[in-house]
Amino acid sequence: MKIPSLILFSIALLSLLLFSNVVWSDTLVGGWSLIKDVKDPYVVEIANYAVTEYDKRFGAKLKLLSVVKGETQVVAGISYRLILETIDDSTTKSYQVLVWERPWLHFRNLTSFEPLLT
Ligand SMILES: *[C@@H]1O[C@H](CO)[C@@H](O)[C@H](O)[C@H]1NC(C)=O
Repeated sequence: MKIPSLILFSIALLSLLLFSNVVWSDTLVGGWSLIKDVKDPYVVEIANYAVTEYDKRFGAKLKLLSVVKGETQVVAGISYRLILETIDDSTTKSYQVLVWERPWLHFRNLTSFEPLLT
């Protein structure tokens, strides 16, 4: 009688842990939160990194005009989802970019750079 109730208790405890883990990641870790100040020098640095990296990878000559909007997400580091306004010669264009950063490893990568459909 003792062992089954111990197993039952362990299962209950485990599911409680799993459940709270899901809730935790949904509300606190998984969600995107809005960047309040898109002119923050660090946000602008991330944006400039994205544009420079895009130019390097695709031989483009885009230049950052401004960060229009931005969000961050905590996922084994920080993801930045930014809306950028860029200029190429005299043509302005908006892009949505994703930069993933793990500051403690000095690791940063541009994972997505898509034209924004307007
Ligand atoms: C950076 O992101 C690109 C695009 O998702 C991927 O192909 C590449 O492997 C990544 N580089 C590193 C070092 O993780």
